[in-house]
Order: sequence, then structure tokens, then C-alpha cells
Amino acid sequence: MASLHQFLSFFFLSIFIIKGNSLSKSPPTSFSCGDDVDFAYPFWQRSQKTEHFGYPSLGVSCINKMSTIQLDNHLYRVKNVNNTMKSLVVSFYKLGDAICPVAPHDVSINASTSFLSYANNVKLIHFFYNCTVYPSGVEPIKCLQVGAKHSYVFLDGLVPKFDWKTNCESLVTIPMNIENSITTNIGKAMKEGFELNWSSNVECASCEASGGLCIYDNEQTFYCSCGKGGHYANCREQGLVSSNYFKLGLLSIGLVICCVAIAITILYIVKRRKDGIYKQGFNRLPMSGK
Ligand SMILES: *[C@@H]1O[C@H](CO)[C@@H](O)[C@H](O)[C@H]1NC(C)=O
Ligand SMILES: *[C@@H]1O[C@H](CO)[C@@H](O)[C@H](O)[C@H]1NC(C)=O
Ligand SMILES: *[C@@H]1O[C@H](CO)[C@@H](O)[C@H](O)[C@H]1NC(C)=O
Ligand SMILES: *[C@@H]1O[C@H](CO)[C@@H](O)[C@H](O)[C@H]1NC(C)=O
Repeated sequence: MASLHQFLSFFFLSIFIIKGNSLSKSPPTSFSCGDDVDFAYPFWQRSQKTEHFGYPSLGVSCINKMSTIQLDNHLYRVKNVNNTMKSLVVSFYKLGDAICPVAPHDVSINASTSFLSYANNVKLIHFFYNCTVYPSGVEPIKCLQVGAKHSYVFLDGLVPKFDWKTNCESLVTIPMNIENSITTNIGKAMKEGFELNWSSNVECASCEASGGLCIYDNEQTFYCSCGKGGHYANCREQGLVSSNYFKLGLLSIGLVICCVAIAITILYIVKRRKDGIYKQGFNRLPMSGK
């Protein structure tokens, strides 16, 4: 009987492993890193290795309980999310001096690949750092002055004509929410970050419009989930996605193994009960023969 036990546990373990590898039928209703930002679909946790519900660019990594997101190979801190407005507010992950910070790098959001775009309350601003020659009549950023090196900031479209490229050490362009002013407190504005809107692409929008949720894998291949497990193009046609036959195969194998295991269990129980009844009957025999 020990061998039958081993046999059964092996099969149940295999089923568990097959099940454990597959994606659950629905995404978590919400998750958080432990700060006060709550995420839900289309956000997902980057710790998921193979497939995930949610848009590729909205993968969240928790770093020391801080919600972060990766855009264009740079890490940003997520400060706020509004699923109704499909918007999020992000800021630079690392900003040195809070009073007079330097923009660490350009922010470039590629709307065509990231599903993200600037919200309409965002404006671009241009920094010109450590200029050794400067145009007359423009105010430098006082707190960034180092000897004869001056730094400047201008709203997009309001940059004075000047050869900034030749005369300054670095040029950085970043977005900023328009509620903030570049003349009063640029440090505060940078700390507050900027707002982005997310949207889905055509195939994902079609999936969502049919009542499904979008799934992507590491290669950013798209599938539609219709809440029953399985992968579809969308939930109206319910056609299984062909490239997924392999997983369907695994599922079938799992089902077959499951059936066999159940059959064996039933046989085993029936056999034990038969043995038991036989023994009981035998024990009772002398008494009933009174
Ligand atoms: C989302 O934005 C709307 C409109 O600004 C606001 O009414 C709502 O409270 C916001 N929700 C969250 C969770 O911030
Ligand atoms: C955005 O990504 C597309 C596709 O990879 C590329 O062709 C395009 O040049 C990118 N745009 C910018 C502004 O980087
Ligand atoms: C400007 O120059 C100073 C002094 O050389 C340097 O410490 C600082 O990092 C520079 N800032 C930028 C933004 O390049
Ligand atoms: C983008 O976000 C802003 C600010 O929350 C909101 O007013 C706007 O409706 C959003 N746009 C889209 C296309 O969702």
C-alpha cells in the first residue's frame, strides 16, 4: 500500500505543479508596496515572471516599500494612481538636494510603445546647466550658481534664442504639472512629479470592450483573458489563440492525470471499504449464529 500512497502523492504533486505554473483566472483586486498607493489592473507586480494581467509598461516594483515603475529604462516613483481618470503621477526616483535639485535625466515617454502619454496639465520644461557664457537679461536659477557657472530653466516654447548647446555643460528636458511655477519653487515642482494617462492599444481595447482583461508575457505577446483561464483574441469570438495550443496541451495532460488519480483513489477506497466490511462481517458471524 505504501507504493500506492507514493504513486498518488506523486500524481497530486504533478497536478499542483502544473496548476501552480499557470496564471490565475483573474488579477488581484488590488495590491500595494506598503506606501499609500494602491494598484489594480492594468497595473501588475513585476515579480510575476512569465505572464501577467495588465499593460506592459505598468509593471510595479516595490523598493523599500516604495512603489516604482520603469519608463524608458529609468526608474520613477509612483506617487498617485487614479483608475477612474486612467492617470498616474510619477516623480524621479532619486532627486538629490530637495531644495535645489538637478533633473537627473531627460524624460522621454514614447506613447507608441508605452501606452502612456502626458496628461493635458503637463508642460515640458528645459534646463540648461552650468553655462559659462550666457545671454543678457535672463534670470539664472540662483541656488544652482557655482562660481561663474549659471543654470537656467524655461518653459517649452519660451526658450530665448541662444547657443545653449555650446555654452552649457548639460541640457535636460522634463515634464512638469502646470499648477507648479518654474519661477517660484522648481525643487518642489520636481518633487511633485508629473501626470501621465494610460491607454490600451487596439487589440487590448477590443479585449476589454468585450469584457476581458489583457494579458502579456515577457515577449509582450498579447492575449485576452475572459475570466475562465485560457487565452483568447477577445471574449466575443471566444476563439482560442493558436500559439497557446502548447498550454492547452499541458492542461489536457493535467486533466487526464487528474482523472486517473481520482479513479485510483476511488478504487483504493472501495477496496478498503470492501476489506473492512468483509472483516466486520466475519467478526459478527459467531454472534449472529447464536
Ligand atoms: C480620481 O479623480 C477624480 C476626478 O478628479 C476624483 O473625483 C476621484 O476622487 C479620484 N480618485 C482617486 C482614487 O484619487
Ligand atoms: C518610439 O518607438 C517607436 C517603435 O519602437 C520608434 O520607431 C520611435 O522612433 C520611438 N519614438 C521616440 C520619440 O523615441
Ligand atoms: C555644475 O558644475 C559644478 C561644479 O563644477 C558641479 O559640481 C555640478 O555637478 C555641475 N552640475 C551639472 C548639472 O552638471
Ligand atoms: C488623463 O488624466 C487627466 C487628469 O487626471 C484627466 O482629466 C483626463 O481625462 C485623462 N485623459 C484620458 C484620455 O483618460
